Formats: sequence, C-alpha cells, structure tokens
Amino acid sequence: MTDKMSEKKHATIAVRSGINTDKHHGAVVAPIHLSSTYSLKGFNEKRQFDYSRTGNPTRATFGQAIADLEQGAVGVVTSTGMSAVHLLCQLLTIDDTIVIPHDCYGGSYRLFTHLAKRGQFQLIIVDQNDEQALAEALAKKPKLVLIETPSNPLLRIYDIQKIAQLSHKAGALVAVDNTFLSPISQQPLLLGADIVFHSTTKYINGHSDVVGGVLVTKEQALGEELAWWANCIGITGSPFDSYLAIRGLKTLPVRIKQHQTNADQVADFLYKHPAIEAVYYPGLTSHPNHHIAKKQQANFGAMMSFEIKGGIEAVKKLFDHLQLFTLAQSLGGVESLISHPSTMTHAGMEISAQIEAGITQSLVRISVGIEDIEDILADLAQGLVASQQH
Ligand SMILES: Cc1ncc(COP(=O)(O)O)c(C=O)c1O
Repeated sequence: MTDKMSEKKHATIAVRSGINTDKHHGAVVAPIHLSSTYSLKGFNEKRQFDYSRTGNPTRATFGQAIADLEQGAVGVVTSTGMSAVHLLCQLLTIDDTIVIPHDCYGGSYRLFTHLAKRGQFQLIIVDQNDEQALAEALAKKPKLVLIETPSNPLLRIYDIQKIAQLSHKAGALVAVDNTFLSPISQQPLLLGADIVFHSTTKYINGHSDVVGGVLVTKEQALGEELAWWANCIGITGSPFDSYLAIRGLKTLPVRIKQHQTNADQVADFLYKHPAIEAVYYPGLTSHPNHHIAKKQQANFGAMMSFEIKGGIEAVKKLFDHLQLFTLAQSLGGVESLISHPSTMTHAGMEISAQIEAGITQSLVRISVGIEDIEDILADLAQGLVASQQH
C-alpha cells in the first residue's frame, strides 16, 4: 500500500496518511497507540512492534507519510527537530569532517560548534555560495555536507543540485534541512540529497502545538542505520506528537497554498514600504538567487526577513505596536509570528558569528500566517508607521 501511496500526488498522500489502517475496528482515522510495550505471540515470536522506543504504529504511520511526501525510502521520526540534527552526528567519527553553512539555524550552529569543540568530529563552516570556499572545504574530503535552503533567517538560497553533485564527487553524503519549506514546496531527495530533515514543529504539524523532527533517507540502508541509532540513543518521537502531526499533515498542502498567497502580498508590501531598508524573500525578483529558488522550489514559501530603518529602537517600537502578529520564536504555524533573530532564534550564535552571517540588530523575521491578508497588512502598516516615530 505504501509503495503505491508514494506514487500519489502530495495532497492525496497528506490526507490519506493512516486512513483505513485499523483492521480491527475499521476506524477511519488512524488510532493513537500509546502502549509502551507489545506482547509477543509466544517464545521468541515477536510481532511487528515490541517496544515503543524502537517502533510504534502511530509513529510509523507518520514516518511513512513524510517518506512518501519526500519520495524517500525511510522516515525516522524524532522527538524534536534538534534531535533529528543530532542524529546526523551519529554518522560521524572523530576523524570525520562535516561542512555546515555559515548561516544555518542558530540551534544547529550551536550543536555542531560545541560538539566539534569537544573533539567529536571536525567542523568546517562555509558560505556555500562562495565557490572557492566550498571547493576548499570539499577538498578536505568531508563525510557529510549539510545544506539549509532557504536559510534561517536571511532566506539565502543554495543550489541543492549543484552542491550535491560537488559533494558526491568529494565522497560526502548530503543532508538538507527542509524545515522552511516542507515537501510541498521543495523535494531535496529529487535534487540529489541523500537525507532530508525537518523540524516538524513548523509547517508539517502547522498548529504550534507539537515539537518534533523527522529525517528521510533516499536509501533503505542509510535509513535503517539512522533508525537504529534513534532507538539506541532514545530520541524517537512520542506517539501523541505523531498523532497530532498526522492530523496537521492532512491540511499541509492547502495551508501552504494560503501561506503562499498571503506571503506574496506581504513581501510586495514590505518591498515598497519607506520604513524598510531591505527585504529578504526568494520570491522577489530582486533576490540574488531568485532564479535558483524558481528552479528548485515549487513556490517561494512564507518566511521572510527585513531590515528596518532606525535600528534596534525601531524594532522595539514595531514589536510594541503590532497587535495581530505575535512576538514569538518558531514558524510555520497558521498564525503570523514575528521575531528578532539576533536575540531570539540565533542567540545560540556568538555576535561575531552573527555579524559574519549577516544577522544585524535591525533584522526582523516574519512567518506569514493564514489570517485574512487585509488584517495582516493593516497590522504591519500601523506598526511600521509607529516604528519610525520619535
Ligand atoms: C531551520 C530549522 N531547523 C531545525 C530547527 C530545530 O527544530 P526544533 O525546534 O523542533 O528542535 C529549527 C527550529 O527553529 C529550524 O528553524
């Protein structure tokens, strides 16, 4: 059934995940299995599941649905997005090198830099759009190259196909953080990546009530290796979170459509606004890598950031006056959120590294929700006027 499901369109996979799997009662919606343990049929006669850390029917349904959406072989569901990132580190020994982007999510940056300081692996941090820097990093024969596109928070775009080809030539595996877009908008495995991962906390669950993660591999063997480690170190996702994420997933394609419609208008509004110094959004033709986003993404997503005129004081005034936007970390939920990357999502990065990555004090990031666009624009309009008043 799952083989056939992976051939269906995204909206069908999302809606049908888990439907008709209850052979006992015929429940239409996949039941939640909270049991931590499963009986054996007899001596040494295991059923499909034996212990919930290792395997759980609800988690398996969720993992399979994401694997189908990403067109991969195995989906490994983890307790958080960060535990999915951490799971990647199990592929590295102390002599192995990992290459990460200089502007990745602050939590990922913190994890990789701190584990490298302990000598767990060798780390190279590069701007992957700098061809020479990337070539020098790949010359060190890394085991793993991590790509994050669009990047958090500057929405830089990296060419997955190109970097994957170069990395494979150097003998590296390629893992892509697809959190900012979801499989509806970008499918890294089809562009040459070996692993795609998500913080499912964001678009995939979409309702800001689950913290979770998932990794999907192109190859069965690599997926089994990661699933083995996820069980071994005990970071598999809970059945309850998987149940909620399956429910969220069902509306992912329609949510993304509305996010996108709203985001296009917000980007256009910000781009023309006199209080805005610069807008970072791959959907704008002024974005330096708009053409790559157009080539590798199905749409441009609903995340954007901007520099406001007037520095940190203007940022504070904007936040004080917004009524509809909520000042909070995270993204990808149905509600519009606003944040200050330097002091919030990227506080795990030293200020010098923030400056190196281009994160300034006047940078503001927004996750455009699916509220009525007129209300979203009206809130931004009044907030931006207030931000410029002395
Ligand atoms: C791009 C990206 N990757 C990974 C993570 C980590 O996910 P989680 O917060 O679910 O642990 C985040 C969280 O904000 C993120 O934005």
